[in-house]
Amino acid sequence: MDRKFAILGDIHSNLDALNVVLDDCRAQGVTDFLCTGDVVGYNACPAECLKIVRELGCPVVMGNHDHYVSSSQNLGDFNPVAAEVIRWTRGKLSQEELDYLSGLPFVVTSMGITLVHATMDCPEAFGYVFDHLQAEANFIHQVTPLCFHGHTHCPMIYEKQVSAVYRIDAQDFKLPIGRKYFINVGSVGQPRDGDPRAAYAVWDPKTRQVSFRRLEYDVAAAQARIRAAGLPERLAERLAIGR
Ligand SMILES: [Fe+2]
Repeated sequence: MDRKFAILGDIHSNLDALNVVLDDCRAQGVTDFLCTGDVVGYNACPAECLKIVRELGCPVVMGNHDHYVSSSQNLGDFNPVAAEVIRWTRGKLSQEELDYLSGLPFVVTSMGITLVHATMDCPEAFGYVFDHLQAEANFIHQVTPLCFHGHTHCPMIYEKQVSAVYRIDAQDFKLPIGRKYFINVGSVGQPRDGDPRAAYAVWDPKTRQVSFRRLEYDVAAAQARIRAAGLPERLAERLAIGR
């Protein structure tokens, strides 16, 4: 059977978005899953989302929120909203779940595809890639022709030709052979590109097509969970605007 990959990232404990994405994966005939990290943080269902991701049995890389939640990192320098959710999430996960998160690798290469949360240029530093110059630093370290990532929560394609890097707006795209691609799959659980719909990508190696999927989900339900958990209101508000 031909393989078809779903690449999911920045799920961020948003169960309502994750369930809709997984339904769409089934409808798309996805056979394999890859996860670019940040399973937890920001939303109100960390244990539920982590359980689902683990049951997928797929490669998962370490996101910065996965790292902060599962380490004893001092949160004094953090954005107070992010720090509050990280502390709350620590209290919602078992020691076994925290150990699982703390053991996630920063980089995985599977079937010729690389996964990293932020960038291959020092993956454990979680730098942001928003432009082609930042992507150039990634390509120095990207060995495989194809690498998927997340972290900015904004879907994007970076293309490396012989001596130049180009930024291409996320769109369904047939990847030419002979170039390298660093593809941001966007965020399942907290999109920030102005489109509140859940985002993920599908990769079909046979046709070389990457498809950026956007799905409406029950934002009000996710907001209600945030409010019921007593998490900051700002986290509920931003889901509605995708910022
Ligand atoms: Fe994230």
